[in-house]
Amino acid sequence: MLETLTRSTDDPVHGMAENDHAAWRTETTRAAKTMPESELARRKSLLRKDLQAARARLGEARRAAAGRALMNVILDMPETGMAGTVAAYVSIGSEPQTAGLIYALWKRGSYVLLPVLLADKDLDWASYEGPDSLAPGPHGLLQPTEPRRGVTGIASADLVIVPALAVDHEGNRLGRGGGSYDRALARVGPVVPTIALLYDGELLGEVPAGPHDRRVRTVAQPATGVTRLG
Ligand SMILES: Nc1ncnc2c1ncn2[C@@H]1O[C@H](COP(=O)(O)OP(=O)(O)OP(=O)(O)O)[C@@H](O)[C@H]1O
Ligand SMILES: [Mg+2]
Repeated sequence: MLETLTRSTDDPVHGMAENDHAAWRTETTRAAKTMPESELARRKSLLRKDLQAARARLGEARRAAAGRALMNVILDMPETGMAGTVAAYVSIGSEPQTAGLIYALWKRGSYVLLPVLLADKDLDWASYEGPDSLAPGPHGLLQPTEPRRGVTGIASADLVIVPALAVDHEGNRLGRGGGSYDRALARVGPVVPTIALLYDGELLGEVPAGPHDRRVRTVAQPATGVTRLG
C-alpha cells in the first residue's frame, strides 16, 4: 500500500493546511532507497519548492523571532553546555536567523566553526571570531575569513548544527539541493549530536531520501523545541 506524506503537526508558523502540500503528499517515499535517482530528485524538488514557497511567505520579523526562539532552545540543551567546539552556519534568505545563536555560542566560550562553500559544493570550515570575522561569499552567503581547516574540520565538532528545509521522524533531512551537508555529515562521528534547525511544522511524517543522504539525530523548532529522532 502506498504511504502518504503527512505533516506531523499543524503548521502554526506557515499557517498552511495539510492539503496545501498536495503536490507531493500523495506520493510514496517508502521505496525511495530503491527508486531511480531521477525520480528521487524529482520528489525532493517538488517538496523543496513547496517548503521554500511557505518560507517565502514569512516576513523578516517571523524569521528573526524564530531565530531568537531557536537560540534559546539550543543554548538550553545539555549537549550545548558540554560542547567545546560547535559547527554552525550563517543563515541566508528565508532560513531562521542564526546570527544571534552564533554570537551567543562564541560569547559563552565555544569554539565556533562555520562553513566555506567550495566550488564543488563541498564545505570547508573556519572559526568565527566575532561579527567582523565574516565576509560576503558566493550566493549571498556570509563566510568566515579565518584560516581554513579543511573539509574534515567538521570532524572536530562536539555539536553540529545544520540547516534543513524539512526532516522526518527517522532523521532524513531535505536541504537546499547541493548535497553539501550530506558530505559534511558523513565526516561527523557516530555519537556527535547533529541538530537541524526548522520552523514549526517542518518535521514531517516522511522525507524522500536516498543512499547518499545523511540523517540528523535531532531537530530544534521555535515553539516545539527539541525532538530527538531515530
Ligand atoms: N557524498 C557526496 N559526494 C558527492 N556528491 C554528493 C554527495 N552527496 C550528495 N551529493 C550530490 O548532491 C546532490 C544533491 O543532493 P541532495 O538532493 O540530497 O541535496 P540536499 O541534501 O538537499 O542538500 P544539502 O546537503 O546541501 O543541504 C546529489 O544528487 C549528489 O549529486
Ligand atoms: Mg541530501
